[in-house]
Amino acid sequence: MDFPISKNQFVGLVELSEVDSTNKELLRRLDADTPEFFAVTADEQTAGLGRLGRNWVTESGKALAVSILLKPVSTRQTDWITIMAGLALGSALEKFGVKSSLKWPNDILVEGKKLSGILAELVNPSTVVLGIGINIKPQKHSPDTATSLQELGVAIGKDQLLGAIASELRSYWSELLANPEVAIARFQAELSTRCGTLGTKVRAELPGGKNLYGVAVAIDDTGRLIIETPEPVALAAADVWHLRN
Ligand code: BTN
Repeated sequence: MDFPISKNQFVGLVELSEVDSTNKELLRRLDADTPEFFAVTADEQTAGLGRLGRNWVTESGKALAVSILLKPVSTRQTDWITIMAGLALGSALEKFGVKSSLKWPNDILVEGKKLSGILAELVNPSTVVLGIGINIKPQKHSPDTATSLQELGVAIGKDQLLGAIASELRSYWSELLANPEVAIARFQAELSTRCGTLGTKVRAELPGGKNLYGVAVAIDDTGRLIIETPEPVALAAADVWHLRN
């Protein structure tokens, strides 16, 4: 389904100049009547949250930080939120001529560097806060492994970016709500072209700190990464590094 490219696709958008974290702010504003696709954005985050307990720096005016409320009705949808958001983001960026690739499970890379990160927080089985950060300009302490739209020579305003994200997310999410099994099969096919992790030698650091080395061969139908070490291992959560093939 096609949705207009407009930030009006959010069902209520709170735009702040500064906040600790848009994910935390959305949680504070959440009540039983908060609609799906309610969103919070901010020019600056003073305590942004990254994956696996890390910080996510958002200096004033340097990045897009947005958090969006989703209401899954089954675990099939919940399992796929992060990857679905990565695909939707890849598709939104493509509208501005930016060719990105998804590093499983939540990074958007351009030319091997991180442009964007996704943090989906499960509040309860039917409530997920989906946080998206996109680097627009270089920040003071950006690591060498990061890039930004400005460094890529792409000038997109925040509103345009928000509009494209809202429209693509609505489209991917409506697919996943309407028929999860059909949508997941389609997402898996799309991953074969959009996911740079597949077919790549990787080092996967597991939550306990153990490292696994192998080739990433598939993403299964619950969104886990399968790596051959050489025996196949399914990873639900890990930090993945792409190694040279
Ligand atoms: C990661 O790559 O570690 C995930 C980063 C997610 C950052 C976004 S910015 C908007 C939202 N609010 C937060 O505090 N974090 C997410």
